[in-house]
This record gives sequence, structure tokens and C-alpha cells, in this order.
Amino acid sequence: MADADFIVREAQPEDVPAAAALGAELVRFHHALDPQRFAILADPLEPGYERFLAGRLRDHSAVVLAAKLESGGTGADDAGGGIIGYAFGQLEPVNWFELLDACGRFHDLMVHPAHRGRGVGKALARAMLDRLRQRGAARIVLSAAWANPPARQLFEALGFRPTMVEMTREF
Ligand SMILES: CC(C)(COP(=O)(O)OP(=O)(O)OC[C@H]1O[C@@H](n2cnc3c(N)ncnc32)[C@H](O)[C@@H]1OP(=O)(O)O)[C@@H](O)C(=O)NCCC(=O)NCCS
Repeated sequence: MADADFIVREAQPEDVPAAAALGAELVRFHHALDPQRFAILADPLEPGYERFLAGRLRDHSAVVLAAKLESGGTGADDAGGGIIGYAFGQLEPVNWFELLDACGRFHDLMVHPAHRGRGVGKALARAMLDRLRQRGAARIVLSAAWANPPARQLFEALGFRPTMVEMTREF
């Protein structure tokens, strides 16, 4: 498969089921990293994620991006409709508990396993930074699981620095 056989664009309503399927996989991915910390709060996850993302498409403070195979895909190695990755972020107000001024929050980034390691994640992340900046974000903040070195390396390569360490214990 050629290197740049995909495009990154604002998600369209027809992309939502595939993006929601990837979002559900993102939840399961985190659950597998640390089942105690990353709870699966509702199953099946896809319907709720679909409703959530559909709402975000109508919300100007939110950015939902899709990476789509230019060939359209076959559904065999994509999430449907040629969608191979998605990203979600939004503008958020001041958060006093976190001593965090208004910012863009980069919440979700997921690439279909069949298409990892060839620039899709970085392209989605760069596009998310551009969009949030264009919409007025002076800073972008994200959280990456400690047990997820690929994500931490990707974000550090894009200029993010570690700023908080979340710690958890159970009773
Ligand atoms: C993390 C993820 C989004 C990366 O997507 P990708 O398309 O494979 O990433 P890219 O090919 O664009 O690689 C970009 C950078 O990520 C880092 N990276 C990607 N895969 C990596 C791996 N297996 N190990 C270490 N670093 C890795 C590297 O810094 C890489 O840059 P390089 O190619 O110049 O070395 C993807 O692995 C994924 O969806 N993982 C599961 C969900 C997840 O972790 N989401 C992010 C947290 S919300």
C-alpha cells in the first residue's frame, strides 16, 4: 500500500458509525492496559459513542477528524467506509481544579491496527492541533496512558511535554 493513500478531513455524518467503532476500540484498548483504572462504563459501547460523536459534529467547539482511504476501502481492513482513523478534541473553559486556563483538549486518537506505523496517527494529530489552534486555542492539553509508550512518543515528537502524572490506587 502506498504511503499517502489516505486523506484527513473533518468527519462527515456518514463517517460517524466507523469513528464510533474506533472510539469503542479505544475504550477497550485502555481497559486492556489497566482494567482497574480504565473502566468500561457501558457495553455495547458503539451506540453511545455514535450518539456522542454525532452531537459533536454540530458543536462548533468540537473537532472530529477522520482519516479515510482514498480508494474508499473494502471494509475488510478498515472501520467501514474506508475510515482508518479518527480524532476528537474540543475547546474547553478554565478548569480551576487543574489550574488550567481555557485550552484545546485533545481527547481521542485511534488508528485501525491494520494501518498503524505509516503516518496516519501523526497526520490526524497534526490536523487536530491546526484545527484547535484556528479555533482560538492558545494551548493544547492531552492525557496519555502511562502504559502507552507509542502514544507518548508520538505526542512528544509533536512538541508536547509531560506536565502531570495521574496516580491511582484501589481499595
Ligand atoms: C498511537 C497511535 C495513534 C499511533 O498511530 P500510527 O498511525 O501508528 O502512528 P504514526 O505512524 O503516525 O507514527 C507517529 C509516531 O508515533 C510513535 N509511534 C507509533 N507507533 C509506535 C510504536 N509502536 N512504538 C513507539 N512509538 C511509536 C513514533 O514516535 C512515530 O514517529 P516515527 O514514525 O517518526 O517514529 C496508534 O498506535 C493507535 O491507535 N494506538 C491505540 C490507541 C492509542 O494509543 N491512542 C492514543 C492515545 S488516546
